[in-house]
Amino acid sequence: MPEGPAWERLGLALSPGEKRVVEVGGREILVCRSGERYFALASRCSHAAWPLADEPIEGSQIVCTLHGARFDLRDGCPVSGPARKPLATYSIELRDGELYVSLNR
Ligand code: FES
Repeated sequence: MPEGPAWERLGLALSPGEKRVVEVGGREILVCRSGERYFALASRCSHAAWPLADEPIEGSQIVCTLHGARFDLRDGCPVSGPARKPLATYSIELRDGELYVSLNR
């Protein structure tokens, strides 16, 4: 298990390509899996707050279909489209089959 009180156990398992919105510390966080990698980001688009929970993941990007913005899952930065601000990203780790997220990032 990761050290320190800042890590929160999510208590869920994701299949490749699956994503879920969870609440941690009063924030809605989008947790997703692409291949064997896990990502934790803000759950709403930085352009006009569209919910990203049902939006498609293409490789290492998530697409906001409302206006077409694409964000890199690794750092939340916009890759294209009207969004200019990055999505907040959070640390996420898989330890002993359990997912943990930390808001301290
Ligand atoms: S709300 Fe996501 S691109 Fe506009």
